[in-house]
Amino acid sequence: MSTTASGDAARDSPSAPIEVRLAAAGLPPLPRLAWLEIDQDALAANLREVARLGGPDVEVAAVVKADGYGHGLEVAARTFVAAGAARLCVATLDEGLQLRGIGVDAPIIVLFPVPPESTPVAAAARLELVVGDEAGATEALRAWTGAMRDPGPARERASMLLLHLEIETGLSRGGVRPERAAVSARRIAETPGVRLVGVWSHLASPEDEQASAEQRRRLEAATSDLRLAGHPVPPRHLLGSGGLFAGSSPVLEMVRPGLALYGHLPAGLPITASTAASGRRLIPAMTLKARPVRVHEISAGEGVGYGGTWRADRPSRIATLPVGYGDGWVRGYAGRSSALVRGRRVPLVGTVAMDAVMADVTDVPGVGLTDEFVLLGRQQGEWIEASELARLRTTIVWEVLAGMAYRLPRVYHASALVTGMRTLRGEASASWVHPEGGEGPRTDRPLGDAPAAATRREAGAREPA
Ligand SMILES: Cc1ncc(COP(=O)(O)O)c(C=O)c1O
Repeated sequence: MSTTASGDAARDSPSAPIEVRLAAAGLPPLPRLAWLEIDQDALAANLREVARLGGPDVEVAAVVKADGYGHGLEVAARTFVAAGAARLCVATLDEGLQLRGIGVDAPIIVLFPVPPESTPVAAAARLELVVGDEAGATEALRAWTGAMRDPGPARERASMLLLHLEIETGLSRGGVRPERAAVSARRIAETPGVRLVGVWSHLASPEDEQASAEQRRRLEAATSDLRLAGHPVPPRHLLGSGGLFAGSSPVLEMVRPGLALYGHLPAGLPITASTAASGRRLIPAMTLKARPVRVHEISAGEGVGYGGTWRADRPSRIATLPVGYGDGWVRGYAGRSSALVRGRRVPLVGTVAMDAVMADVTDVPGVGLTDEFVLLGRQQGEWIEASELARLRTTIVWEVLAGMAYRLPRVYHASALVTGMRTLRGEASASWVHPEGGEGPRTDRPLGDAPAAATRREAGAREPA
């Protein structure tokens, strides 16, 4: 479990065979027998839970970088905005442009500096940029000023460059020193067509109350300098999931949660009584499933997988699951991970290959090609949590989720109903997903709502498998 607080809200994913569920939604079969299922209801519920925790006047800037922490950038963004997120955060310029390309209209912050020469392009797409470094900011403002002088297309499309001033408060990753904040704010104020719309920082150790208080103090020092220098102080933001659920820092005007929106909390976070209940209501949104491509009998003494590192000590039945390190199921799991089938845990044996891993199903009679295995998530009350996988490979839950490869198909559902899918060939919505919200699954705003889906098709996007 990620923390002592979350977990109660885990739930079984739908149990009908995947091809039946896809066909019922008017969708084609999967191109391969390993896939992620993403629960859109869970994403929306988590957003609402986090918004409640933040409070009524606090903006939620939902973090959807790294392909929505592996859940799918577009669906995560649409779902969070529909559930009430005021704003989105991405890490890179092209993530922001991708969202604009599919018609996402919400304000978007690009959390890391973009190449300075791309500043006009970002502004034209109404992406809000960060000032994370004085020298970089000088370059960015120069590129912006140049574009404003040049009567080319960038100027025609962008009338304003919106900036969030990052303050270095202790993470040593980005931001201007607190004592230089007023200088940066003056430069911004003096540059035509540029507006400061946020002041922010990022906690290094949200689990450490003292360290976080010191970071907060530095952010406050920077904002009071801005005030003293006569600059209006724009909305301030400091907290991600850890800071918000630790409950010891004021939330300020905006929060930037990521992990909690996907249903998880950081491990080892001290949680207050008031945030614990909220944490328990978070619902993990991702399940990794696979169906065997072969179930095969081997004799005692036979090896399994590259290098024959695992040998059967009895006659065994081995199911080959078509998921491997090319999908984010890393080699480090070898010899220590399991899968669920028919509600029971079975060991994964041998090394992990790029495209396959083997399960020892000897103790679960009758397992065959139609059985769905769960490698992450819940099945009939048994549960493999992201935090368990994180521990197995001595990493953090963020990396487990964000490490799920793009090539794994994503099947989106709301309750038990499939709302859409994404494969390497494109995205498609369930046939019952209607633009005006008529008949259809219980979802706030389904995957690729029809106008966006139609736009993609008109633009020549490929259909999924
Ligand atoms: C600047 C920034 N803000 C917010 C977040 C979201 O953090 P979390 O996923 O812990 O909520 C991240 C995530 O890495 C980040 O880099």
